[in-house]
Amino acid sequence: MLRTHTCGELRKEHGGQSVTLCGWVAARRDHGKLTFIDIRDRYGLTQVVFIPSVNKQAHETAQKLGPEFVVQITGKVNVRPGKMMNKDLATGEIELCAERIEILNPSKVPVFEIESEDVAEDLRLTYRYLDLRRRKVAANLELRHQLCSVIRRFLSEEQFLEIETPVLTKSTPEGARDFLVPARLNPGKFYALPQSPQLFKQLLMVSGMDRYFQIVKCFRDEDLRADRQPEFTQLDMEMSFVTEEDIFSISERLFQKIFKEIKGIDIAIPFPRMTHARAMSDYKSDKPDLRKGGERSEEFSLTWIIDFPMFHYNNDEKRWESEHHPFTSVKPDDMEAFGRNEFATVRARSYDLVLNGNELGSGSVRIHKKEMQNKIFDIIGLDAEQAKQRFGFLLQAFEYGAPPHAGVAYGIDRLVAILGGLDSIRDTIAFPKTQKGNCLLTDAPSSVDRKQLTELGISTLSQIKKN
Ligand code: AMO
Repeated sequence: MLRTHTCGELRKEHGGQSVTLCGWVAARRDHGKLTFIDIRDRYGLTQVVFIPSVNKQAHETAQKLGPEFVVQITGKVNVRPGKMMNKDLATGEIELCAERIEILNPSKVPVFEIESEDVAEDLRLTYRYLDLRRRKVAANLELRHQLCSVIRRFLSEEQFLEIETPVLTKSTPEGARDFLVPARLNPGKFYALPQSPQLFKQLLMVSGMDRYFQIVKCFRDEDLRADRQPEFTQLDMEMSFVTEEDIFSISERLFQKIFKEIKGIDIAIPFPRMTHARAMSDYKSDKPDLRKGGERSEEFSLTWIIDFPMFHYNNDEKRWESEHHPFTSVKPDDMEAFGRNEFATVRARSYDLVLNGNELGSGSVRIHKKEMQNKIFDIIGLDAEQAKQRFGFLLQAFEYGAPPHAGVAYGIDRLVAILGGLDSIRDTIAFPKTQKGNCLLTDAPSSVDRKQLTELGISTLSQIKKN
């Protein structure tokens, strides 16, 4: 190790000890003969004083330090006299009296002041590695890590297995366009990046995995907003031999744990439930904000929205579409209406969890019988041949003893944003994309060499026009 302690660690108990710190120069102040620098790392900030009589050369080096230089400093921990203590700083009881300094790497003058509040987002995203040095932004990633740790611990104790599913796969309909990946070894064919692991998690239930979860990237080519990214993360879950009540119960206990461990708040369970019809009639929204004190993101209101319609009619295309997705089952009470083809009135066994007016998660009790699955495909306009071509593997799996199963998926980015009181999910993601889907840091998406396209057997329209 190049250091004995972090920059957030030293207290008055360390007084008199010889220590070595490493970090970035956050500030330099020259006071007559003395030079002070603040040295920063992820854990905090420590004040270091350079005194010529202690080490003349070290003092001279300190005077040359620019912002964001990476340094290694060895010295003695001095307890500051009472009046000199800085109560606003965790390490404010001490300062490090430098005996030796090494510049591990100089830095260009950063394009923005690291701790400045007033930096345009485009610039922050272009230099995201500098942006992430900011306490406030780094704290969001810490929060995200903490959340995922709570989730993994809780679900593991509840016998869930975290299982990875493919990223290069076949299209799964979740209502958005797919991102496609050309398959060089199969000219003219494409993989789709998963909009969610929906079908794989259902197959895992057919496999007898019983309780699955995954903290997983999903990809959707849709118009972006503050709460939407083209690649985002879900906590995806599925359980066998359960009903919606089991999904509600495990989710409520999970969220109770999350709020307790992360915010120190006791949230009451079970969460209230509201039918979709009532949400629409009383609040004109399927994600009503039910906080009692209005919009105060220390108050948290979690509500299940239930009894969604099974279908909605697409007037442009003159056909029925699934409201959730086509793997959702019909409410038993509405099976008669379903049998009479009264699709507008049929309700689904699907549910959303709404947190402070945000759709945090969605799920449903699934269809597990081939005949019913085929019927739904038929209603939404997939004929038997199309259904077989797109979802044949699922239909086939249903012929080999598929258990009744149900599941749900929660948006991790959205949850972190709400827990952290952030306006945009971009602040919860280490390297996010802009509203237009660009990564300003790497400049993706970008053009590729013609050779790469040729290998893939692809021409762009502009190439074709040019020729
Ligand atoms: P759904 O499509 O509702 O359900 O997605 C579940 C949750 O994922 C989050 N989410 C997003 N977050 C950020 N950016 C996006 N573009 C984005 N899209 C969705 C939301 C949403 O509630 N397979 C089903 C779940 C299931 O039936 O089990 C599914 O993906 O918080």
